[in-house]
Amino acid sequence: MEKIRAAITAVGGYVPEDLLTNADLEKMVDTTDEWIKTRTGITERHILRGEGKATSDLAAPAVLDLCRNRGIDPNEIDCLIVATVTPDMFFPNTANFVSDKVGIKNAWGFDILAACSGFLYALTTGASIIESGRYKKVVVVGADKMSSIVDYTDRTTCILFGDGAGAVLLEPNYEGYGVLDSILKSDGSGGKYLNMKGGGSYHPPSHETVDNKEHYIFQDGQPVFKFAVTGMADVSYELIERNHLTADDIAWLVPHQANKRIIDATARRMGLSDEKVMMNIHRYGNTTAATIPLCLWDYRDKLNKGDNIVLAAFGGGFTWGATWVKWWI
Ligand code: UT7
Repeated sequence: MEKIRAAITAVGGYVPEDLLTNADLEKMVDTTDEWIKTRTGITERHILRGEGKATSDLAAPAVLDLCRNRGIDPNEIDCLIVATVTPDMFFPNTANFVSDKVGIKNAWGFDILAACSGFLYALTTGASIIESGRYKKVVVVGADKMSSIVDYTDRTTCILFGDGAGAVLLEPNYEGYGVLDSILKSDGSGGKYLNMKGGGSYHPPSHETVDNKEHYIFQDGQPVFKFAVTGMADVSYELIERNHLTADDIAWLVPHQANKRIIDATARRMGLSDEKVMMNIHRYGNTTAATIPLCLWDYRDKLNKGDNIVLAAFGGGFTWGATWVKWWI
């Protein structure tokens, strides 16, 4: 019998209505539209505003959108995985909050934390659950309310991030479509360059952690940039080489949207022209775990059955990876 593969059979997405533009940021910190655009490619981001709104309020509409697009009832879902660095709470897991908001009653679920590579880690995990033959419908969500951990007085980070969520449904496929290969990597020595120090067991919340701004993202941009350029390009190249794929075989590169310059370097290393690169960083900024599924959501009408697509990410941890998917929808 043909091996069970995990095909992506539906995509869903959600971004909140409120916008934070470069012009808005010019009024908040010492920056310019010109600097932001040329250094990052970002023009605007969507921000989830409102008391009591959390990451699950981004993920739940994305999952409902996915159910509508596939024509399924939420109760058909067997397992829900949420990749996020901004969980609603430390515990219980965000997957539980999302299930409750969507009305998913028959599933188990859990969160995965791998920063900007979270969606790829979760997709590979979800695919393995399908490949085991034990479950038929696994939903993988990438969702982050980055505005909840951004210091809007720090011009080096506040211009980068936005809020959003994207989701895919994985189902068994016996015809060779779906997640075909994945290379995931991590290097804990990179943790010092991109992190949020306060609130965990290392520095439990205290007046001091608040005063020291330890509940906000810290990023040393240049080393992260350097590692990201080589890490994302190398792992993508390794993936296509070990599967004997050439640039002509690849329909789309779906890169994590952290910086247009990192994306361009990855595409160049793979020999791909700009038309084959999904890009929406200008509209959403860096939504961490949500960037890749939001690309799939935005470009869903341009994808064709049988397309070879390469998803690639690099992020805090460091974590990075690349995944080869043969598109089914
Ligand atoms: O998604 C997870 C992984 N994260 C990433 O992949 C992000 C990787 N890093 C980057 O994308 C880039 O490093 C940044 C976009 C964060 C920064 O760009 P850069 O080209 O590395 O700039 P820089 O940090 O070297 O700063 C250059 C200059 C500095 O001024 P001086 O020291 O040259 O006078 C900064 O103070 O730009 C200044 N600067 C700004 N100026 C205007 C930093 N932020 C701003 C700003 N507006 N918002």
